[in-house]
Amino acid sequence: MSETRSTPTIGVFDSGFGGLTVLAALMRRMPHARYSFIGDTARLPYGSKSRRTVARYAAESAQFLVREQGAEFLVIACNTASALALDAIQDAVPVPVLGVIEPGAAAAHAASQSGDVLVIATDATVHSHAYKAACAAKNLRAYEKACPLLVPLVEEGWINHHVTDAVVRIYLGELTSDAAAAGMSADTLVLGCTHYPLLRPLIERAAPRGITVIDSAESTADAAAALIETVVPSASRGMSEPTEIHCFATDSVEKFERLGSRFLGRTTGKVQLVDLGG
Ligand code: DGL
Repeated sequence: MSETRSTPTIGVFDSGFGGLTVLAALMRRMPHARYSFIGDTARLPYGSKSRRTVARYAAESAQFLVREQGAEFLVIACNTASALALDAIQDAVPVPVLGVIEPGAAAAHAASQSGDVLVIATDATVHSHAYKAACAAKNLRAYEKACPLLVPLVEEGWINHHVTDAVVRIYLGELTSDAAAAGMSADTLVLGCTHYPLLRPLIERAAPRGITVIDSAESTADAAAALIETVVPSASRGMSEPTEIHCFATDSVEKFERLGSRFLGRTTGKVQLVDLGG
């Protein structure tokens, strides 16, 4: 890898559109990079699948980004894949790989005064207890709750819909009363799924007063920028090329272009269909 290059190629992966929240955060910090994003929309949701299946799917997307797109760094913009398959992804590709769990736990640590943290995530992420472990390593207690209805609502584009609002209120009501009954005095809520930042306004309205909401997309982008800066020092400063984005999906290309542009805050450009196998 040349010392003088200023434009890194960064691969970003999620099961669907949710990871675009991480891509948007990366672009804010490193505007002069080439990004390849793949959403494995044909096989979403990952959150209800086994570790073995998530590892196989995630490794295939990672290999596509490295082999076909020349990615020199990978950001796993999916909590489920980060929680269940980070090791498998690292074994599958020869480039640095960053997941979202550790940066999310670090941000919770920085925000929490009480040391008690709530985490909402997919079923698979919650059952892996990856957040509980990452938080415990920082002396935080985490109370995790699966919110399986939220990903399909986001994928449907119902990000400001009364049905989604009602679902969010039910989940957060259950979470806060269960956590209180377990003796927790939580002051921080981690959005442990990259789809959830798209529901942030609803979540903030429904969360109890005084709770700080943590979006792991932001802390992941900070960690990625720090890592990439060590290899391509001008990546975050940007004197050279404009942002280049190449988006790929394994299904629903038109829907990806329509909703993805909304979530990214700029056009995704033409999304290309990719077949990663069954
Ligand atoms: N966006 C993914 C995550 O962060 C999950 C979506 C899914 O269930 O596929 O966990």
